[in-house]
Amino acid sequence: MSAIVDNPEAYFSQFVPERSALLMELEEEARRDAIPIIGPIVGELLYILARISGAKRILELGTATGYSAIFLASACDATDGLVVTLEQDAAMAEKALKNFQVAGLQKRIELRVCDAMQELTQLDTVFDLIFMDIEKQDYQLALPHFQNCLRQGGLLVADNVGFKDADGFNRAIARQPDWRSVSLFSYLPYHSPEYDGLCLAIRL
Ligand SMILES: C[S@@+](CC[C@H](N)C(=O)[O-])C[C@H]1O[C@@H](n2cnc3c(N)ncnc32)[C@H](O)[C@@H]1O
Repeated sequence: MSAIVDNPEAYFSQFVPERSALLMELEEEARRDAIPIIGPIVGELLYILARISGAKRILELGTATGYSAIFLASACDATDGLVVTLEQDAAMAEKALKNFQVAGLQKRIELRVCDAMQELTQLDTVFDLIFMDIEKQDYQLALPHFQNCLRQGGLLVADNVGFKDADGFNRAIARQPDWRSVSLFSYLPYHSPEYDGLCLAIRL
C-alpha cells in the first residue's frame, strides 16, 4: 500500500495556486500588518464553489482589504453576478475599494460599510452563497438570519471554525436539521492561521 508523502506541508506548498500580483501584494500586506486573510487555498476554493454552484448573488461578512471578495467577484464574471460585502472598519473598507478598482472588479462588488450583524436584520435580498469571516463569537448569532437571506439549497462557507469562539456555531450547525454541513481541518498555506477549520453547509 502507498504511504503518505514525506513532509506533507512542504509537498503541498508547491501546489499553492498561482495568483495575480495584486493578490500577492495583499498577502504581503496581511503578513506585515497582521490582517487575517483567507490566503490562496481558501480563495481558490471559494472561486471554485462559486463557479460550480453558479452563484449570482453572493454575500460576504467581513471584507478587510478585499482579498476574499476578489476571488468571489472573479467567479461572478461567469454568471454576471454581484458580491455584496460588509465591513465595519471604514479605513479597511477604503483599502478594499481601491483594491477592487485595481482588480477591475468594482462593478461586481457592492461594499457596505456597516455592522454585519445589524445589516443581517434588514437585508432584502436572498443570496445563493454566503461567506462568513467576521468575529467568531458572532457566527452562531448570525446563523438564524441565514434562514431569511440564503436560498434553500444555497451554500454557506464559514472560515476559521477551528477557533474556540466558533464552538457554539460548530455545535449548532452540526445538529440543526435544516442544514447539511461538513467541517474540515486543514493545512492552509498563507491563510491566517495556517492550520484552521472551514465549514461548508447547504441550507436544506
Ligand atoms: C478575518 S477579516 C476578513 C478577511 C477577508 N474576508 C479576507 O479573507 O480577505 C475580518 C474582517 O471583518 C470585519 N468585521 C468583524 N466584525 C464585523 C462586523 N460585525 N461587521 C462588519 N465587519 C466586521 C473586521 O473589521 C475585519 O476587517
